[in-house]
Amino acid sequence: MLTGGFDAGVPLAKQAAHILKSLSSKQSQLFRKFDNMTKITFRDHAGKTRTIEAEDGSTVMETAIRNDIPGIEAECGGSCSCATCHVYVDDAWLEKLPKAGPLEEDMLDFAFDVRPNSRLSCQITVKPELDGLVVETPEKQG
Ligand code: FES
Repeated sequence: MLTGGFDAGVPLAKQAAHILKSLSSKQSQLFRKFDNMTKITFRDHAGKTRTIEAEDGSTVMETAIRNDIPGIEAECGGSCSCATCHVYVDDAWLEKLPKAGPLEEDMLDFAFDVRPNSRLSCQITVKPELDGLVVETPEKQG
């Protein structure tokens, strides 16, 4: 499989996920020393939830990919150019997030079933103030 560098025979999204996962184990050891983890709950469209300890400074999308959360594809790797990291932010948290920028707003036009609480998870940076954040993954992406 992937041992270093990019492999033209492997889809870019798969390679990005592999890199994020490998960073996760190394970074999580470092971050745990400083105990700066923030809990994020991912809920799927059927209501099943999973709470993850996210690294502050990462994004909600990176956290999802590193932890194999279904429903987040992140085909562009977080460059705000695919909309396959679309999530619904729980209403209790919507006002606590910085507003979406113009690029994110434009990309959301390409997401499936956009709602007033839709956001791109690659544009949400994890920070201690977001401890307890709840996001729902849509039934499908794209
Ligand atoms: Fe592509 Fe968020 S990962 S827009």
